[in-house]
Amino acid sequence: MDFARFEDLHIVRKIREKIRKWWNIELSYADESGYVLDHARGKIVPPHNGICQASLASREGFHRCNLSVERAIDAVRDQKEIRARVIETCHIGFPIVLVPVVDDRGTFHGAIFAGGFLLDDERASRRERVADASTRLHLPIADQEAAYAGVPTITRRDLDYFCDLLETTVEEIVEFNKALRQRESRIQELTGELAGRYTFGNIVGKSPAMARMFAVLEKVVDTDATILVTGENGTGKELIARALHYNGPRRNKPFVVQNVSALNDNLLESELFGHVKGAFTGATRDKQGLFKVADGGTFFLDEVGDMSMAMQVKLLRVLQEGTFLPVGATRPEKVDVRIIAATNRDLKEMVARREFREDLYYRLNVINIRVPPLRDRKEDLPALVEHFLRRQAEKRGLGPKRLSGEVMARFYAYDWPGNIRELENEIERLVVLSGDDEVIGPELLDTAATAYGSGRNLQRFRLKGDLASAVAALEKEMIQEGLVATHWNKTRLAERLGISRTTLIKKIKEYGLEERGNPLEEVGR
Ligand SMILES: Nc1ncnc2c1ncn2[C@@H]1O[C@H](COP(=O)(O)OP(=O)(O)OP(=O)(O)O)[C@@H](O)[C@H]1O
Ligand SMILES: [Mg+2]
Repeated sequence: MDFARFEDLHIVRKIREKIRKWWNIELSYADESGYVLDHARGKIVPPHNGICQASLASREGFHRCNLSVERAIDAVRDQKEIRARVIETCHIGFPIVLVPVVDDRGTFHGAIFAGGFLLDDERASRRERVADASTRLHLPIADQEAAYAGVPTITRRDLDYFCDLLETTVEEIVEFNKALRQRESRIQELTGELAGRYTFGNIVGKSPAMARMFAVLEKVVDTDATILVTGENGTGKELIARALHYNGPRRNKPFVVQNVSALNDNLLESELFGHVKGAFTGATRDKQGLFKVADGGTFFLDEVGDMSMAMQVKLLRVLQEGTFLPVGATRPEKVDVRIIAATNRDLKEMVARREFREDLYYRLNVINIRVPPLRDRKEDLPALVEHFLRRQAEKRGLGPKRLSGEVMARFYAYDWPGNIRELENEIERLVVLSGDDEVIGPELLDTAATAYGSGRNLQRFRLKGDLASAVAALEKEMIQEGLVATHWNKTRLAERLGISRTTLIKKIKEYGLEERGNPLEEVGR
């Protein structure tokens, strides 16, 4: 169940607002593994009290908070009715109220929950326990009394009403989900199997963007149309080319790959088109070019944007006439090759700058497949993670592995500049480091990579106001996020930011980041 879809339901939004207004309590959602949805989106919406906020800002506190939620989810996992349950305490000592999301078929999808508040009749009895927990976690809370006094309270009588509201929210979600499912299965029936297909070859992805791409792949797989695959590094361009070849009519013929940028013109020409004996010094015998090798099959021309103008002309000829001239030969050769080209560059812009031939561009770009970067389709993360975990574990003869909720949360928050390749490498690293453990925890993460923030929030800066204050705001935000990401390790953060530790400390003071002890207050809102 995709909870993000239900969050925008009018009633869900309204109930959330009301709960906030009446009791100052924040509703959250955790999925069946205990992943907190907001954390999973790289956003931390702390409960409205200084203690939880300080806890979430500390490494250990954040970890424990996630564990508390995971435990609470476990407690309602087998519950079959949509009924609120109060879990005695979280790691700080606050109660957690949660309602399991169980659909009409009895499947458990996680829960709606709220924490970080107190019941009026427990205010006195819990004080010491909460103070103890704050001390144990070394939370930077200047005035314990004041912080405790600021924790939202709900009366025992209101609690019933509060639970009713939560149950209603879940009932609405389940109803809506049912209607949605029925509609989707009807659409699927109507449009045949195509709509139901979420994979193509071994390309993993369920996001709408990938589903659209699969639909295009389905349409072109059986044709000979030339295809241009564009996308950032590591998005899966080669995987797509392979899938097209191995699922198409040419699957029993060769699939040949050449990275155009890897060779200079002379070498590339002889590699692609071959040469005849004596064509140049060292050409002691005839050599078949890769186009010939690929005859009847598919030729994958990688990094086609890096091709020189001279080579572009020769490639154009292959595309237009299906012929080429081996180096030193006088008679052209003819081949039947399907061409799939790939690039991470903007060919259209290169055409405008006259760095890429326009005629070749149109010949290559008959069908354009744009592979979206991972940061634009984070919905694919769970499936990709599962896929790579399974593959890595199998490869190494290890038992099943899974990521802890916190690791998953970091994964969602991260922007993955290296896309799927980076994700694959990170999972391989984690699987290797995790040894025999089934659950991969956050302690194995390389904080530099999968730390919070990673630039997303920069978009929030508006393009107005004066430069100095914009720079200051950016600086503050980077330091704030960096402090969370490095768990307040100033030496490491200074290194990452490329400033001295003294400067960093000065800036932390200047922006009042330390005194408040709560870098999350403004992050992710
Ligand atoms: N959707 C996907 N499902 C499963 N694996 C994927 C997916 N996309 C990419 N991969 C894997 O990620 C790695 C990188 O993919 P690939 O080499 O196809 O990317 P690329 O776009 O060609 O990268 P580059 O631009 O750096 O050449 C490969 O191991 C590939 O199998
Ligand atoms: Mg590639």
